[in-house]
Amino acid sequence: MSRKFYITTPIYYVNAHPHIGHAYTTIACDMIARRHRMLGDETFFLTGTDEHGQKIERAAQAAGKTPQQYADEISAEFRQLWKRMGITNDDFIRTTEDRHKKRVQELFRTIRDNGYIYKGTYTGQYCVSDELYVDGAQPGDPCPTCGRITETVHEENYFFKLSAFQEKLLDLYTNPDFIRPETRRNEVNSFVRSGLRDLSVSRSTFTWGIPVPDDPKQVIYVWLDALANYITAIGYGSKHAAAQAAFKKFWPADVHMIGKEIVRFHCVYWPAFLLAAGLQLPKAIVAHGWLLFEESKMSKSRGNIVRTETILDVLGADALRYFLLREVVFGQDGSFSFDALVQRYNSDLANGLGNLASRTLTMINYYFKGEVPYPSHAAARTTADDAIAETASKTIREFGTLFDQFQFSRALETAWALVAAVDKYIVDNEPWALGEKNDEQNRARLATVLYTAAEALRIATALAHPVIPESTAKIWAQMGLGDIKKLALNELAWGQLRLGTKLGEVQPVFPRADKSAIERMQKMEDERRGAPVAATQAVAETPSLSAQGPANPAIQAAAPAANNKISIDDFAKVELRVGLVKVAERVPKSDKLLRLEVDIGSEVRQVLAGIAEAYAPETLVGRKVVIVANLAPRKLRGMESNGMIVAASLEDGKPVLAGFLEDVPVGARLK
Ligand code: ME8
Ligand code: MG
Repeated sequence: MSRKFYITTPIYYVNAHPHIGHAYTTIACDMIARRHRMLGDETFFLTGTDEHGQKIERAAQAAGKTPQQYADEISAEFRQLWKRMGITNDDFIRTTEDRHKKRVQELFRTIRDNGYIYKGTYTGQYCVSDELYVDGAQPGDPCPTCGRITETVHEENYFFKLSAFQEKLLDLYTNPDFIRPETRRNEVNSFVRSGLRDLSVSRSTFTWGIPVPDDPKQVIYVWLDALANYITAIGYGSKHAAAQAAFKKFWPADVHMIGKEIVRFHCVYWPAFLLAAGLQLPKAIVAHGWLLFEESKMSKSRGNIVRTETILDVLGADALRYFLLREVVFGQDGSFSFDALVQRYNSDLANGLGNLASRTLTMINYYFKGEVPYPSHAAARTTADDAIAETASKTIREFGTLFDQFQFSRALETAWALVAAVDKYIVDNEPWALGEKNDEQNRARLATVLYTAAEALRIATALAHPVIPESTAKIWAQMGLGDIKKLALNELAWGQLRLGTKLGEVQPVFPRADKSAIERMQKMEDERRGAPVAATQAVAETPSLSAQGPANPAIQAAAPAANNKISIDDFAKVELRVGLVKVAERVPKSDKLLRLEVDIGSEVRQVLAGIAEAYAPETLVGRKVVIVANLAPRKLRGMESNGMIVAASLEDGKPVLAGFLEDVPVGARLK
């Protein structure tokens, strides 16, 4: 009996080039979708791009492009990357597509007709970066999510009666499967319990969005627009019979996979919108943690991103997929580093599965002319053979259970425990010694050992296929088993490997990586950032001055192009203050960084600045500097940097600190 399975990623904002943080969500969904297809489920896997709203409009402006041009370019980057990675999404939705826009308007209309949308006036704070209304905040307050200063919005809007859904939502959260993991469920639960205010669901002060039906002066709130992708892509609101049938078949979604920072939108707003429209609710919303790099969340605004292409070029997609799912405990944050990536690759793939495949298949080639031998009758069997068979059967069960509970690292651990058990089995049973003696007894024993090893290899390979599709397909072909996609995973069992199966050409699947692989990847990333090419230097040190933000304006999409003007309001967002250096010292093991303590009137801030090559620390104490006071804090070498010192950057990269001819009070604002 075939079941349907519908899984989605969030749709990615087009203000940032794709990095491995984005790839993480997509890989997790791809792997789940692949497993469901192998289990025979009729699977639909959706991803796409989120292209409307003030944040995108501003980013486009800063890049000197129309929002549509800008969105076209970055959306294409996402599609190309997923294609290159072999991601098996069944559709890719763009929120600027006609089909989406019409269906979002249909959703808005339905909710309005059902009495849940009314007109009102909104005055309050808004975070453009998160496209979030910040309830209860005052002008000048930071966004609780990202720390950026919120903007005051005062306009006539349409409101959604979110407050009407409090009880229904709380009811919904009593189902433990609805929000995973439990920590997120508890968070959402207490947020809703503390009371819900109605939500503004339209904006009137910019135009880059979907017009409100019958009131084109307003555009629909970008999160209502974006969340609706999960239903518009599969046919909601369409008049065509085929689309209606698809919607009926696939909705509700089985899994919305998201990052933990967008839980509120998915677990509060989205179900409320659906309830208001009289639609069914998704079955599960699963939140993963963040990928950290240099100790903070990898993100465009911090500039600490790693491009997926770099890893694909050097180690391939499977290395990244395996690393992310094995190394990061799903649901928690996890650190990325090139060292750890290469170490995992070598220990588990090159020396683990890869080595098991090549030694087993090479011996079958050598001793049995490339044909799988048959395990022998009772006389040539030992309990060790049975133990492997049992371990393999148990692994099939446990892998499935853990995988379905989203415990991917533990699922992979069980499969690799099987690999380790077979490795030990081979060493203990010394097939090479058996092969030396050409009598019938030893020959039968050799056949049994190699059959057992090959059958365990087949099972580990089948289980790992959704996670590392490319390399397992190769091992499968080398084993003479044909197309791995045709395997019915729900029938996988010990003993299916057939006598006489002819092996294909045996080749190493995971060539060992050495230190130069790490250096190559680091160099590629440094060059992209425009940093001096010193592979061992911490990225954080390469900006000549600040410990904040990306080194190279080329990757800072929001950086205004030379011919592009910003408004006074934009400038006013930057809080520049006069600071007095109280303490200055070198950061151990760093040529460039100084640790400063800077008095800015209201407080003393710790700032890490990349100026050590231009200024001796003792010359700075007592000096007045200009500091950008409202930058989000960032960790460098384990220390927090809270602000950035302003300086001119000379041609040779040498910084010259900004200062004043007249005396100025500490803490004075520059404007
Ligand atoms: O939030 N670690 O889009 P987005 C792990 N458009 N995951 C990360 C990550 C990191 N460092 N950085 C990004 C949006 N992600 C909205 C969604 S859905 C209706 C609209 C992942 O491009 C994370 O899963 O900012 C996040 O949820 C997703 O990228 C999209 O982020
Ligand atoms: Mg984001």
